[in-house]
Amino acid sequence: MKRLAVLVSGSGSNLQALIDAVDAKRITNASIKLVISSKAGVYALQRAAKHGIASAVVARRQYDDADYQTTLLNLLMDYQIDYIVLAGFLDILPESIIEHYTNRIINIHPSLIPAFCGKGFYGMRVHQAVYQSAAKVSGATVHFVDGGIDSGTIIMQRAVAILAGDTAETIAQKVLQIEHSILPEVVDALVNQQIKWYDSRPFIDKG
Ligand code: GRF
Repeated sequence: MKRLAVLVSGSGSNLQALIDAVDAKRITNASIKLVISSKAGVYALQRAAKHGIASAVVARRQYDDADYQTTLLNLLMDYQIDYIVLAGFLDILPESIIEHYTNRIINIHPSLIPAFCGKGFYGMRVHQAVYQSAAKVSGATVHFVDGGIDSGTIIMQRAVAILAGDTAETIAQKVLQIEHSILPEVVDALVNQQIKWYDSRPFIDKG
C-alpha cells in the first residue's frame, strides 16, 4: 500500500477528488496519509479532518531555507511518504525534497503547458490570461515536479473547448472539472507503476 502526501494552499477541491477516488477504488494500492498546507485555516484542512487524514501547516515565510526543508522532510519521513501530489500548492518545494523524491512528485496546473504557465500563472490569473488571449481551447496538465515552476515533464493533459459565451470564471470551472478527473487517473497510474517512458517521455500504459 503506497502512502501519499497531498500539498495544498486553498479550497482543496483536487484533494477532495483524490479522497473520493481512493474511496471509490479508482485509485488502488494507495492511501492519503498526510495533507500539508502552506496556509492555516484553508478549507482543504477541513476536508482532511473530515476524512480523518493527518494534516500540518508549514508556512514558508515562518522558516529560513534550512528549517523549511528540514521541517518538510521530517514530516514526509515521519509519515513514511512514498509519493507527493501538489494540488493547488502555491509554494516552491526545496531542491533536497525534489531530489529525494525524483519522479515521485506530481503537480496539477490549470492550463495546457507550455501555454499560460510559469511565474505568476496560478489560480484565476491563468484563466484570465487564457480568456484575454482569445484562445479556443484550454485544459489541465499533470506533470512531474522538477526544480522549475510548471517545467517538469508532462504526464497527462486534457483539453476543453472555449465557446463564445465563456468568461474567465466559466473557463476555470470547466478546467477544474478536468483537473478532478485527470489527477486521480495519474495518481493511480503512478502508484501502480503504469507510467512508462518512451524516449524520455512518460505515458500512462495500463498494459
Ligand atoms: C486549481 O485550479 C489548481 O490547478 C491550481 O489551483 C487551483 C486550486 O484548486 N493550482 P483546489 O484548491 O484544489 O480547489
